[in-house]
Amino acid sequence: LIDLQNRYIELLKLSLLDAIYDPNRDDRLTPDRLWPRRAHTMLNRERMDNLQMCVETALMDNIPGDLIETGVWRGGATIFMRGILKAYADDSRRVWVADSFCGLPPPDENAFPADKGDRHYERSELAVTLDEVKANFAKYNLLDEAVVFLEGWFRDTLPKCAAERFAVLRLDGDMYESTIEALESLYPKLSPGGFVIIDDYGAVEGCRRAVCDFRLAHAIEQPLIDIDWTGKYWRRG
Ligand SMILES: C[S@@+](CC[C@H](N)C(=O)[O-])C[C@H]1O[C@@H](n2cnc3c(N)ncnc32)[C@H](O)[C@@H]1O
Repeated sequence: LIDLQNRYIELLKLSLLDAIYDPNRDDRLTPDRLWPRRAHTMLNRERMDNLQMCVETALMDNIPGDLIETGVWRGGATIFMRGILKAYADDSRRVWVADSFCGLPPPDENAFPADKGDRHYERSELAVTLDEVKANFAKYNLLDEAVVFLEGWFRDTLPKCAAERFAVLRLDGDMYESTIEALESLYPKLSPGGFVIIDDYGAVEGCRRAVCDFRLAHAIEQPLIDIDWTGKYWRRG
């Protein structure tokens, strides 16, 4: 069974990365970055491996709580979370899928000066509708009652999220505002031994500042560990 579980998870990962037919997925180069043309996630192999390690460790160590990603785009990382739970026949945890499903908010420069000049909200590539994300879950036969969609701006949805505890928080909202709002609403619910994954730490200055401000304000001393050139994570003590 262990071999089958590993094979399923690996196959799911390759499919989500669009690396199943060609190890180099089909990315499109725009003036400022690469966008996957077809892949259901923007994550690379290293960040998918890290997500798998965090979820599997939480399961093996019986860390209580649900899984969430804030900022899901086409849904790939959350589809992966649901698939890993399925592989281990875990019926007790939910996967929370939080997004506006219409892209990023314009920067609120008064409340969050670090976001001044941020132009992510202009990128139509970042707006993926709720129906499209649900359809992507369905393609993998992973759309079920364990998947809960939180549609709206994080500032409105995350403080009201009905989950009591989390084992894994995956933050991928690109901006200072999106990162700090997720940390403030969700970190108090993270179980000891749970994981916080920050996708944009190296890529977006605002995200990095939000993480530093939050860790300083809450005297968090667990080390920030590198995933790749941008991703970092830490494990709550
Ligand atoms: C980089 S993409 C996420 C990539 C995704 N994790 C993946 O697996 O490919 C960023 C997403 O965050 C969402 N987002 C960013 N800030 C948000 C906010 N404040 N409220 C709601 N959604 C937000 C955007 O709509 C977008 O889908």
